Amino acid sequence: MAIKNLGYLGFSVKDMVAWRQCLSGNFGLMEVAAAKDPHETTLFRMDCRAWRIAIHHSPEEDDLAYVGYEVGNAQDLATMAEQNRQAGVVITQGDAVLIQQRGVVDMISFSDPFGLTIELYYGATDVFDQPFVSSTGISGFLTGNQGMGHIVRCVPDAAKALDFYTQVMGFKMSDIVDLTLGPDMKLPLYFLHCNERQHTLAIAAIPSPKKIHHFMLEALSMDDVGFAYDRLSAANLTTTTLGKHTNDHMFSFYSRTPSGIELEFGWGARIIDVNWSVTRHNNVSIWGHKPTNND
Ligand code: FE2
Repeated sequence: MAIKNLGYLGFSVKDMVAWRQCLSGNFGLMEVAAAKDPHETTLFRMDCRAWRIAIHHSPEEDDLAYVGYEVGNAQDLATMAEQNRQAGVVITQGDAVLIQQRGVVDMISFSDPFGLTIELYYGATDVFDQPFVSSTGISGFLTGNQGMGHIVRCVPDAAKALDFYTQVMGFKMSDIVDLTLGPDMKLPLYFLHCNERQHTLAIAAIPSPKKIHHFMLEALSMDDVGFAYDRLSAANLTTTTLGKHTNDHMFSFYSRTPSGIELEFGWGARIIDVNWSVTRHNNVSIWGHKPTNND
């Protein structure tokens, strides 16, 4: 498939100061440069890339604004553009200003079936000459071929979203988790991959005012998660206890961003290999991930 990984996320947010505290102060991302104006865009690094998360000040919006998926080269970008056009998706070619802002060689953008802006790009900027330094001593984030993490997309119609993301975008099914909502009520969650990461994207027909339920960042050591859990627990900012997920075996906990979107912070997930078969699970967690009283 042409999509290699989840490359970046951009959020439109009301409270820039709180978001900077969340990403940099709480989770140890590296702020690229202190914004002179608190209303300006602020970029955050997780690795050798020039940026992985952007927050843009907005008086009205408080949600995920765009998702950047990486392709390998110009040919793959053209292939993806054509696949989307054939499916009736309206493609916008990235203009010079946007290409410069994202720091890529070329890009296109379009909307998924429920209004989330997707950007496909190639040629992101690496800055090996400016080493990643975590603001909280996080040893590092697992990125590379697995991309920056995963997102859980909330949609009104899971079948329509699945059709788009598998048939047009080329994601492959990893597994399905049947959430039990009541004695005769189950809600299937669909987990999709585009590389070794067990899931880069999940589809959930969960009513939500936000475009995603959560995004996940994976640290390089268990201690990174433990230290973050202690730090956030002390500030009453965790929304779940520590836990381990059934499908990717991620050891993680959840916290809430200032926009109400959850942030899963994890370590130690298993990966997809050539022998992977689609599976089902009846629970999202093997143990833990119990709600805390911090909601
Ligand atoms: Fe997750």
